[in-house]
Amino acid sequence: DETKAGVKGLVDAGITEVPRIFHLPSPENLNSEQPELTLPTIDLQGINEDPIRRKEVVKKVKGALESWGFFQMVNHGIPINIMEGVKKEVLGFFEQDSEVKKQWYTRDFSGKSSRVMYNSNFDLYVAPVTNWRDTFFSTMAPNPPQPHKFPAPCRDIWPEYSSRVMKLGGFVFELISEALGLDPNHLSDMGCAEGLQVLGNYYPSCPQPELTIGTPNHTDSSFITILLQDHVGGLRVFYQSQWTDVTPIPEALVVNAGDLLQLITNDKFVSAQHKVLANKIGPRVSVASFFTTAMNPSLKMFEPIKELLSEDNPAKYRSTTVKEYAEAYIAKGLDGTSVLSHFT
Ligand code: SIN
Ligand code: FE2
Repeated sequence: DETKAGVKGLVDAGITEVPRIFHLPSPENLNSEQPELTLPTIDLQGINEDPIRRKEVVKKVKGALESWGFFQMVNHGIPINIMEGVKKEVLGFFEQDSEVKKQWYTRDFSGKSSRVMYNSNFDLYVAPVTNWRDTFFSTMAPNPPQPHKFPAPCRDIWPEYSSRVMKLGGFVFELISEALGLDPNHLSDMGCAEGLQVLGNYYPSCPQPELTIGTPNHTDSSFITILLQDHVGGLRVFYQSQWTDVTPIPEALVVNAGDLLQLITNDKFVSAQHKVLANKIGPRVSVASFFTTAMNPSLKMFEPIKELLSEDNPAKYRSTTVKEYAEAYIAKGLDGTSVLSHFT
């Protein structure tokens, strides 16, 4: 029953040392190794009105996804008050009494139980590291839950933020399709933009951050992820054999390619490894929106896009459903390796 109070429950109980199960095999280097590398920030201002601007932006998106697998975007159209509001709501959920939070606790990911849930360490029994993080999450598309199904602190802006991310994602998929030299609707028509799972991550302040990790090294299983982070920092992306900070920019959203985008682009776009350090100054809050239909079983098959293949570039992956991919991903847990290699 204690696990239902999450990592926050431990911190609230006043622990001053990180318990053994949270220890990394070797301590984390909290200093950034490569401060001179900066993740690209792409400005979306005016790209619907100006075809030349749009071409430039598409080129930047292409460059970013081919190399980093990540970029930040500004002037994306989601108002700052909605972004601030949704982070406050996530904070509000975790600051509730643990007796109240318990009602939302589950470790069942079959999709049969509630579609609005909370837990800590979904991969507790398979992953090598226990995370210094609690997570609230919900399937938001297709068929978002009725407003009254959300916990009281997340009833107002959470659904609003999600529907805005859903629209923005549709737009980002247009840019990505164009970056692949395809028709703007290509990825949406394939079904990449159909499903959305939104996670509110809460990283309690940690007394010994170098001993543990907020989110361990992993790639996302989604097509793309749109991430909102607060001012605390600690998100790092692996690029050119180094870990680089994804520096918080208040009005920005982070976009990254997930494994399924790497699969359908036949490795043209990379699903980069990333992690989140534990921190002393927290709590840190982030809202991660995964474009995936993992919780909405569908028979749709995904495979490397025919238009991108040639004699010199044959398909590297077999076809799969999102559900099959997500099940393999969850079964393995976040152990620092990619499950993509199981789909070749
Ligand atoms: C994640 O990669 O799953 C979490 C990212 C974050 O909290 O910033
Ligand atoms: Fe991630």
